[in-house]
Amino acid sequence: MNKIYITTPIFYVNDLPHIGHAYTTVICDAIARFNYLDDKKVLFTTGTDEHGLKVEKAAKDKNKEPIDFVDEVSLNFKNLSKKLDIKNTDFIRTTENRHKISASFFWNELIKKNQIYKGNYKGWYSVKDESFYQEKELEKKGDTFVTNDGSPVEWVEEESYFFKLSNWESKLLTFYEKNPKFILPQSRMNEVKSFVKSGLKDLSVSRTSFNWGIKIPNSKEHIMYVWIDALTNYLTSIGYPEIKDDKMPYWENCIHIIGKDILKFHAVYWPAMLMAIDFPLPKSIFAHGWWTNEGKKISKSLGNTIDPNEIIDRFGLDQFKYFLLREVPLGNDGDFSENSLVGRINSDLSNNLGNLIQRVTKFLYKNFNNSIPYGFEEEKNITDIQRKGYKLIFTVKEKMYKFEISKSLEEIFAYIDELNKFVDASEPWKSFKIDSKKAGRDLSILIECFRIIGIILQPYIPDAAKKILDILNVKNSDRYFKNLSLKFSLQKNHSLNNPDQLFPRYEK
Ligand code: MSP
Repeated sequence: MNKIYITTPIFYVNDLPHIGHAYTTVICDAIARFNYLDDKKVLFTTGTDEHGLKVEKAAKDKNKEPIDFVDEVSLNFKNLSKKLDIKNTDFIRTTENRHKISASFFWNELIKKNQIYKGNYKGWYSVKDESFYQEKELEKKGDTFVTNDGSPVEWVEEESYFFKLSNWESKLLTFYEKNPKFILPQSRMNEVKSFVKSGLKDLSVSRTSFNWGIKIPNSKEHIMYVWIDALTNYLTSIGYPEIKDDKMPYWENCIHIIGKDILKFHAVYWPAMLMAIDFPLPKSIFAHGWWTNEGKKISKSLGNTIDPNEIIDRFGLDQFKYFLLREVPLGNDGDFSENSLVGRINSDLSNNLGNLIQRVTKFLYKNFNNSIPYGFEEEKNITDIQRKGYKLIFTVKEKMYKFEISKSLEEIFAYIDELNKFVDASEPWKSFKIDSKKAGRDLSILIECFRIIGIILQPYIPDAAKKILDILNVKNSDRYFKNLSLKFSLQKNHSLNNPDQLFPRYEK
């Protein structure tokens, strides 16, 4: 599989970008960059979900026409992608023509396959989640109901088209059995299975009480349920309904990264609809956890949302990315606190990584004319520390391809610890005075190990990794994982660029 397709959820534009949006995006970016460096062809899409009642209401609150409103606010998300320096290959807006064509075609396919019928919907709806709820999924509050996060639902009664979701119950369960890695982590698969086993009702897939959405083909009153509209974005981005042959392998190796709150839509509705039109399913869906802020649930009403722009301006982009990727295992919930962020910056990035690189490269700059003093051709065997470095990529790949991003970083930083110990034990600054050849050899070994970590760190902290590789003067074409062997090591007399600080300590 040398083609891979990574997707973020598309974001509701009624909100300002917050840490949740940044988190999903940063994860996808790290995975996309990782695959790219591992010689894969990568498609990586993100974008904005611009239809539905929630967005229509937000536009009304601002006294704006929905289209003017979404044109304006979708920019916040485009800007966030820029600010995060995301390597997405597409940014899709559901108000684009290409998407309207794709979603309408998808709808017609469902009609063709006799998967849709007209009826009346009577039941609960959450505008916040844009989701229909059965009473058994809600909690009673006074004489009404709320969703499990305490948000209100409203009673809806209107004519609606329905998708025959109930027909897909056993087919979904069989599919999950045959594809145990379709939903990850495993705990989420179990959750989905029990949801499906508890019984699926047909899904209302159109609305008539408001207008802001894609018109149902051949209908005046109905607009498409925003989740059907939104989910098809993943197909639109690869050219649906006319997907070129060379794009299909991307789809078959597609990974949807989502938050745990939107699992039902991706892991139940979406595969059922794809099966219903005889379309292949994506490879897997990974649901990540949620962040709290200093131990408290994040919510607009509490006023404790975290603006990623502000964090990046204060602490730095790589610092923010590193924290998000390292702090909690992907899939678990995490707590965002300034203390833990600063702790990670100062101990891992500044002390362990930054100081190490700086100490060694500065010493070479001052004492060895800023060039590599020793050639490995003089060696019979490579040293242990180097061998471990070349092996590191295999462990890191193993973790990354299992979505164990924080563990992969743990492995890399454990290796950086070893490099620090190597420096402390060899003390080139002292040995230089008595045996400059030994000092030169030790420093050259370290430089080779820095080349290794510089290459491996690129997906996680791209700016700092680039800085390391620039200081080492590594050619751009030699910065791939396939270059992680002795064969590509920097040769004796190779000149370095001037040292530079990587991560200043964060002081309040
Ligand atoms: N528009 C839908 C997705 C449609 S995809 C076909 C949507 N948008 S959203 O803007 O509300 O949410 C985007 C993502 O942010 C979701 O994956 C959600 O899980 C994530 N997060 C929102 N708050 C979050 C945290 N506090 N922590 C981590 N991620 C959270 O849902």
